[in-house]
Amino acid sequence: MTQTRAYDTRYPAVADLKDRARKRLPKFAFDYLEAAIDNELGKARNRAALQDVQLIPRYLRDVSTVDTSVDIFDHSYAMPCGVAPVGLGNMMWPGAELALAAAAQKANVPYVLSSFSTTPMEDIVNTAPTVSWFQLYVPRRRQHMQQLIKRVQEAGFRTLVVTVDVPIGAKRNRELKNGLKLPLSPSTSLLWQCMTHPNWALRSLLAGWPDFVNIQDYRDDPKQQLADFISSFAMAGVTAQRLQEIRGLWQGPLVIKGLQHVDDMAQAIDIGVDGIVVSNHGGRQLDAAVASALSLQNATSALSAEVTWMLDGGIRSGLDVVRALALGAKMTFSGRSFFYGVGALGAKGADQVMAIFADEIARTLGQLGCVNAAAMGRDYIASTP
Ligand SMILES: Cc1cc2nc3c(=O)[nH]c(=O)nc-3n(C[C@H](O)[C@H](O)[C@H](O)COP(=O)(O)O)c2cc1C
Repeated sequence: MTQTRAYDTRYPAVADLKDRARKRLPKFAFDYLEAAIDNELGKARNRAALQDVQLIPRYLRDVSTVDTSVDIFDHSYAMPCGVAPVGLGNMMWPGAELALAAAAQKANVPYVLSSFSTTPMEDIVNTAPTVSWFQLYVPRRRQHMQQLIKRVQEAGFRTLVVTVDVPIGAKRNRELKNGLKLPLSPSTSLLWQCMTHPNWALRSLLAGWPDFVNIQDYRDDPKQQLADFISSFAMAGVTAQRLQEIRGLWQGPLVIKGLQHVDDMAQAIDIGVDGIVVSNHGGRQLDAAVASALSLQNATSALSAEVTWMLDGGIRSGLDVVRALALGAKMTFSGRSFFYGVGALGAKGADQVMAIFADEIARTLGQLGCVNAAAMGRDYIASTP
């Protein structure tokens, strides 16, 4: 066992960082991160399905060296766990997006910048030149789509991730109850939350209120409410035809995120995508959505095509990452885990989450008798969700 990393042992697990983030962030900001749709069952199902994956360790082997690296799209990443795209990152913690990009570069894992991010995309590529991917919400207007993809290419992103699982804006009850609207309107409750979290409030004041800097040129009315802007900007359902057009425009690796039906995946593969992130958007869009682990299992059983399988949804530990690898993923992502880290400890928290995942992935692989992350697969599964 060679790969251990130093980290703050007061928070040895992602769950510890979540507890601290809950205390350190104003309620509306923590709830924005935590919220899922309706009764939040889809989100819970993601966790439950991963937890149900049982693995059979192999012994009688030397595991003194464990290689956690994986090769994807001509790059060797240090471990199979990257940062999923999360909109409005700097609202949860000022500077969160750059801190996570810097940590991802240091850890050599993918950092996926959301279309609804609040840091200029060029700054992200400067900070994370070899690991930055861009997530695209497909603009309704073709001209905007072409302009945005051109800018992403010129900025130096190597991989484009097209999210298709938000055809309709979600109704998230926590956000509604908190009155989360952007621009923020200063209600008594919000002011109270800011006053009782002075560290967050002061930093936010100094940093300035976050805005959608990468797509603001496409805003017809600068005073437009966030929800209205989002629905006027993005397509109400990304069609196969649009995906085909994007394939024609984007020369580099193209990834589609959010597919759950095997037939949709087969269609995307026919169109020429290089990777699929099996995802249900962290349970934020459809409460009855199938758990990501189960979707991935169905997909890899049904489709034998040469495509890079990836998964997100409920990944909270190195063991979860290895469970996803056993189901057929080559890379995993988490949204909430990384933001718990930054919410809990600021920029240091980004490195802390990376270190926790790196340590736990290496230990889990070693414990299972698998000395190479790329060799983890179904052979190790005792039961599946
Ligand atoms: C607060 C929040 C904002 C998100 N924003 C985006 C986004 O802008 N684009 C996108 O493709 N996915 C977005 N997602 C979904 C994540 O990329 C990812 O699919 C999900 O967080 C994975 O589940 P996990 O949080 O349980 O790890 C968001 C998720 C959260 C929690």
